[in-house]
Amino acid sequence: MNMGQATLDDPVGVAAVDLSGMLSTVATLGDQLRRGFEIGQRAQVPPAWRRHSAIVVCGMGGSAIVGDVVRGLLGDASPYPIIVAKGYTLPAFCGPDTTVVAVSYSGNTEETLAAYADATERGCRAVSISAGGLLQELARTRVGVHVVLPADAPMPRAALGYLAGAILGTLGHLELPDLAGEVGVAARRLDELAARWKPDRPAEGNEAKALAEWLVGRTPVIWGSEGLMEPVALRWKNQLNENAKVPAFWSAIPELDHNEVEGWSPETAKEFALIALRHPGEHPRVAERFALTLELASAAGLDAREVRAEGHGPLEWLFSQILLGDFVSTYLAILRGVDPTPVPALTGLKERLRR
Ligand code: F6R
Repeated sequence: MNMGQATLDDPVGVAAVDLSGMLSTVATLGDQLRRGFEIGQRAQVPPAWRRHSAIVVCGMGGSAIVGDVVRGLLGDASPYPIIVAKGYTLPAFCGPDTTVVAVSYSGNTEETLAAYADATERGCRAVSISAGGLLQELARTRVGVHVVLPADAPMPRAALGYLAGAILGTLGHLELPDLAGEVGVAARRLDELAARWKPDRPAEGNEAKALAEWLVGRTPVIWGSEGLMEPVALRWKNQLNENAKVPAFWSAIPELDHNEVEGWSPETAKEFALIALRHPGEHPRVAERFALTLELASAAGLDAREVRAEGHGPLEWLFSQILLGDFVSTYLAILRGVDPTPVPALTGLKERLRR
């Protein structure tokens, strides 16, 4: 047994590092998704908003990722463009026919507040989602729909289920595929997977612990694929940054076949570990490309592992892979001896900008 296994299988040792209990929060993804979706379904969206010209989701970091999730899930089926705006400004086309959804778990993110204020000034159909904060206060003074989330998650990135559920439930009021049935099924799948990957399941037979151990000491590179696995690869990268406090990089097939693939060689690959996120719905040519590109990576000496999404449809595939990444990044934090919950660099920067 190596040191990693000893640490992850020792509840006292785990609790001594995971001081705010990030691992238990990670395991609630299914429940959050279920509850968030119900909250979104109850949002009082005016029937006249059903038809619109575009959806723009604005937010940052752990909140913005739900915009990427919505685009990854519904982008191909949506009759209207779905855009994700991560910054202070909105695209010039935003106007009275555009649905703008401002998402901020804390409700206090300055970029999101600026974009939301801009949306309401331009007369967009403004939806805001937060667990309180300035966004909720601002929404009281503007025309629009505000969706209030439970404030019990320790960090915005640990509220992904609430945020994603709420936006998907709210968007169900618009002309988009209704995901009510799929959300319930996906949430049950997430409960089962959490039971398989949680801390009291030994490292032997626990894929999440095994992957975290395998990553120790190397920089993770996450490969997704076009559409559904792009937000998942980005989420893995962000969670590895914020939970495990390591640099990490992501990209997607087929785009990476046109650039990144040239960068790997025995000389450059040594310090990296590649995780390839696979799912059964890949375009057939993407699946072929994945196989060939992984062959090239292996020839370049890049140590790689494939992880295959579980479940029967896009929603289950997407969230099951997200849940695995959430567990892996939290276990990696523990193996590195860092508390996964606080993000001192990020909060310090916000503080300096506030002064
Ligand atoms: C913190 C996190 C961050 C925040 C971001 C925006 O856990 O993941 O990326 O999500 O700083 O804050 P919110 O989500 O409150 O708008």
